[in-house]
Amino acid sequence: MGTSRTPPVGSVSALQPRLSVAAKRASLIGRELDQRVVIDHVLSSSVTTLIGPGGVGKTALATSVAAAVGREDFPDGVAVVWLAPLRSAELVAAEVAAAIGLTRSGGLSNEDAIIRWLTDKDVLLVLDNCEHVVSAVADLVDSLTTQLPRLRILATSREFSPRVASRCGSMVR
Ligand SMILES: Nc1ncnc2c1ncn2[C@@H]1O[C@H](COP(=O)(O)OP(=O)(O)O)[C@@H](O)[C@H]1O
Ligand SMILES: [Mg+2]
Repeated sequence: MGTSRTPPVGSVSALQPRLSVAAKRASLIGRELDQRVVIDHVLSSSVTTLIGPGGVGKTALATSVAAAVGREDFPDGVAVVWLAPLRSAELVAAEVAAAIGLTRSGGLSNEDAIIRWLTDKDVLLVLDNCEHVVSAVADLVDSLTTQLPRLRILATSREFSPRVASRCGSMVR
């Protein structure tokens, strides 16, 4: 029976390498207070957004948070999704699926596969550089946060759709 069984779509351990990727990029100078504020926000809200012009340190702050959050808060892992190189908004869900280690969806859409896999898991998803695919990100964030109450999302963008912003208790700029 083993050969006909559908392989698992991913594994929790697949999340771990993303954490070390984040940690390597996380040497921050003079942002300890900001990091604490963002971590507190991430732990208390579904969605946290870091919004500001290019070069102000959004990615650096987000990756430092990804590296600093405790395993007790996110025992199932932290996944950092690098959206900057993405050429099409249609690839957003596929990129997120890949970042959390989903290599096949078993006939499900990427979005449904992500939801199925993250159900009952405590994961922080960092979506970096959303600005050029902001509408697709807003759709996905809407869907994920509605169906995955335990999921936490930290997103960086030069701008954000009001739909995403309205879901945040407050925004960090
Ligand atoms: N607090 C900081 N300490 C050290 N380097 C930083 C800090 N904030 C930003 N940088 C560096 O400045 C550059 C721009 O930061 P980045 O996070 O990419 O900006 P953004 O994501 O807002 O465009 C990067 O090389 C980054 O490593
Ligand atoms: Mg950036």
